Amino acid sequence: METLEAIRSRRSVRKFSDRPVEPEKLQAVLEAVQQAPSWANMQCWRLVVVTDPEVKSRISDLSYVEAFFATRGYKSNPAQKALAEAPVVIVACAEPTESGELRGQKYYLTDMGIAGQNLMLAAHAQGLGSVFVGVFEEEELGELLNIPPDIRIVGLFPLGYPLTATVSGPPRKPLDKIVHYEKWKG
Ligand SMILES: Cc1cc2nc3c(=O)[nH]c(=O)nc-3n(C[C@H](O)[C@H](O)[C@H](O)COP(=O)(O)O)c2cc1C
Repeated sequence: METLEAIRSRRSVRKFSDRPVEPEKLQAVLEAVQQAPSWANMQCWRLVVVTDPEVKSRISDLSYVEAFFATRGYKSNPAQKALAEAPVVIVACAEPTESGELRGQKYYLTDMGIAGQNLMLAAHAQGLGSVFVGVFEEEELGELLNIPPDIRIVGLFPLGYPLTATVSGPPRKPLDKIVHYEKWKG
């Protein structure tokens, strides 16, 4: 798939079929993360690839954070079921000391955002789908997966074949709301 077409047509996928992900497609997704740009090429990312149904189900339970969603009237994270149903879940972690910090900005989060987009585009280009899940109980998830306490869990990515051929997504702000030419205006 051509790059711009992949960027335009990628949507967050939250419903998956039970068709397994071919190992070479999973490998290509992991290699897409490996190729992402990062602060001083320090490559802070660490990935935990989960396929065990019981562990995926527990990860799904841990993606509902009551203090976050209850105030918004949600009884589940919109992607919660996807984490149990997708054949693969990639838990995207970072080693924060292997990135930069400047002006109070922690660049491991930037590195991980770019890596996440690479992951989702590589999935999409191969007919797979994914979604960045950013809400979860980090401490309990870390214990479940034996992740060391100094490693931060940044995102969960269910990965698999989308249940339906087309997935719609929410609209975008018009360009004139987000782009300023030459100087910030208004
Ligand atoms: C950092 C981040 C965290 C996100 N967390 C969640 C989440 O916890 N649950 C969920 O259903 N979607 C989550 N999303 C997906 C967004 O809701 C989605 O990208 C956005 O609505 C635009 O839709 P699209 O990806 O289909 O274009 C997250 C996306 C990002 C970038």
